[in-house]
Amino acid sequence: MVDSLFQIKNQNPKHTIVTGDRGVGKSSLLMQIQLTSNGVNSLTDRFKIDRGVDKFNFLSVWHDVDATQNAFDLALAILGKFESAFKKFLSGFSLEIDLAGFGKLGRDKQNPINISSLIDEFVVRIGKVAEGAEKNKKDGVLIFIDELDRIKPDSMISSFFKLTSERLARDGIKRVGFVCAGITGAVQKLEEEHASILRTFRDVPLPRFAKEESALILKEGFGKANHKCSMPNFEDRVLEVTMGLPEPIHLLGSEMLSVDIDGILLEDDFENAIKKIVSDVRKNKLASLLRKAGGGKYQKIVEAIAKHDKKIVPLEFIAKVIGQEQSQFSTNMATLVDREIIFKPAIGHYAFTDPMLKEYVKMNGVLTLDE
Ligand SMILES: Nc1ncnc2c1ncn2[C@@H]1O[C@H](COP(=O)(O)OP(=O)(O)OP(=O)(O)O)[C@@H](O)[C@H]1O
Ligand SMILES: [Mg+2]
Repeated sequence: MVDSLFQIKNQNPKHTIVTGDRGVGKSSLLMQIQLTSNGVNSLTDRFKIDRGVDKFNFLSVWHDVDATQNAFDLALAILGKFESAFKKFLSGFSLEIDLAGFGKLGRDKQNPINISSLIDEFVVRIGKVAEGAEKNKKDGVLIFIDELDRIKPDSMISSFFKLTSERLARDGIKRVGFVCAGITGAVQKLEEEHASILRTFRDVPLPRFAKEESALILKEGFGKANHKCSMPNFEDRVLEVTMGLPEPIHLLGSEMLSVDIDGILLEDDFENAIKKIVSDVRKNKLASLLRKAGGGKYQKIVEAIAKHDKKIVPLEFIAKVIGQEQSQFSTNMATLVDREIIFKPAIGHYAFTDPMLKEYVKMNGVLTLDE
């Protein structure tokens, strides 16, 4: 991603899209890249990443898309944010992009504008933004877009990206880059249904931490706090309860330290930390997550997923436990994914988005709610 900043500065635009599971750290990475693009070097210095320049100096805006937005709404939001960015950061320089004129394009709900005139109007204005940025000695213009997985397939946003990036290249507007993030499965789904995002965008997959990495992060942290971990089977157990996600790893580590009394971390500290997380620190969040899953069959499915000895659970196992054919509850599975209770890390496999939900259900059972 740092390389793509360098390339954009050097008029060789590379658009990127960070993809990964829920909670893996996509937004955090995007935020770090925005900081880097604004001349903050802490991340690149810490990881000894060669930036190719002393520091970057881009003009950027950030937008979180949501399910109600279409390509026009997105384009209008981006332009609006650039207008305020100019006011804020480049005082004394006014940007004439006729935002109001652009806004009028989308006013007539009976006659929605077609995608090619939308692109025409957007690219002209972005060109002016890029010109203004250049006059102000900026490295270029970056458009950060998070939560890309929330967009609807009929929003035309996928085509908007593809056509805009091609058009920018054709018009010689080379110092403009999109930097996006979205959940893996959802982005691939857009890919199937619409113009190929991944052909114009460089995919930066952000994987969950591997078993050894998760354990190493914790052990290094313990070392810094003058604790030693002598728990047998530590690596496997850590992966099992955290799924290699940064936030649960952090939580587990800090709670293990908080329950320990003798500086030596063992099985009981691990178990006590989990107990504390599900019955205290995270109790309310997990309880509301369980309610959000829904009643009746939904609770049975949640219970089945919690019962499996691994975090990633094959559909056949769920079918066996609840005693139904897969086709009888496939829509329930899709609903649980929509409600963000579970995600689908592989075809025919499911896991809780919050890995601690499994520990919570194992300890407290499920709810008896009507559907
Ligand atoms: N490298 C990291 N080290 C420690 N904690 C991290 C790291 N990256 C992210 N986190 C923490 O993990 C949590 C999830 O991160 P973040 O929101 O960036 O993930 P995400 O992939 O954008 O999630 P979502 O799919 O919900 O949008 C946050 O609490 C964040 O502070
Ligand atoms: Mg995010």
